[in-house]
Amino acid sequence: MEKITKRILSGVQPSGDLHLGNYLGAIKNFVSLQKEFECFFCVVDLHAITVWQDPKMLKQKTREVIAAFIASGIDPETNTLFVQSQVPQHAQLTWIFNCVARMGWLNRMTQFKDKAGKNSENVSVGLFSYPILMAADILIYLATHVPVGEDQKQHLELTRNIAQKFNTDFKTDIFPIPEPLILGAATRVMSLRDGLKKMSKSDPSNYSRIMLSDTEDEIVKKIKKAKTDPLPLPVNLEEAKKRPEAINLLTIYATLYDEDLEKVVADYAGKEFSQFKRDLGDLASSKLSPISLEMNRLMKDEKYLDSIISDGKRRASSVAEPVLAEIYEIIGFYRD
Ligand code: TYM
Repeated sequence: MEKITKRILSGVQPSGDLHLGNYLGAIKNFVSLQKEFECFFCVVDLHAITVWQDPKMLKQKTREVIAAFIASGIDPETNTLFVQSQVPQHAQLTWIFNCVARMGWLNRMTQFKDKAGKNSENVSVGLFSYPILMAADILIYLATHVPVGEDQKQHLELTRNIAQKFNTDFKTDIFPIPEPLILGAATRVMSLRDGLKKMSKSDPSNYSRIMLSDTEDEIVKKIKKAKTDPLPLPVNLEEAKKRPEAINLLTIYATLYDEDLEKVVADYAGKEFSQFKRDLGDLASSKLSPISLEMNRLMKDEKYLDSIISDGKRRASSVAEPVLAEIYEIIGFYRD
């Protein structure tokens, strides 16, 4: 098989409304990487069902992520946009990797501990083995680079360990050791209600996150209500880093504006939050509302979205099928 050097795979779950963390930590970077890399972006519905998903909503949520990719500026012609469950090789390779990964490796995954909490006896087995499916997503395409937010870093280390162990055990070099691409300042966007908590889909408070589906008014209101400390804005980056709510809002501003964080801190040094929040509200709504409008337009055109998904399935399968066949050969499975 020819050696691939610049291939990306990344995934987003269809488990709720996409928020600013998903956009700044992942999707915005996908948009800028698409020129330089061959890209596969998938909606990871198999991952989503590790916790309960309403069957009546899942298809719609799946289309919504595809719409968000396109509305954010990912070109569906030059990139492969697809749905994970449509390419069965992901699940097939997962079983093989279940037999490669070690229990000790998975026991160290902090995201499982965070998500399971005190309930670890009662969560699905899928939630525990979730990072193995992620490794299969990446390696079935022999992807070399994986753009993600910081919360996925440990899962990528596991992917690298699995690739390495498979290659060593079977004396092969089939799998690349993929590099994480954790890019920009907003690698971990925090909740607007608590600067020490990650912005997430599962937070019960709607005011903790800005959604891609929010209207301009909602965005402005959420930013106005965002928690801050009582001091004026920090005078330098060093001070900002000690003030979680301030650094979070400044980082969001810098990333949306494509400006250096230090420059933004300097521009607002010592100013009042009320002024900064007005500017941030205007900036965020002007950057995000075109995406949300385009998403809404695309969501009305189901036929178009379904044609993208079907084309993506064909393109993704044409890569995944021969890779799985070669893996079966390496393992020594009976084949006719
Ligand atoms: P998911 O669906 O939770 O999130 C999608 C992407 O958004 C990033 N992200 C954030 N970035 C910055 N700040 C935040 N608050 C924030 N919240 C989420 C995530 O890091 C991710 O890049 N397991 C993955 C999906 C996945 C995947 C893969 C990713 C499945 N297979 C293969 C890469 C490669 C997840 O649950 O992402």
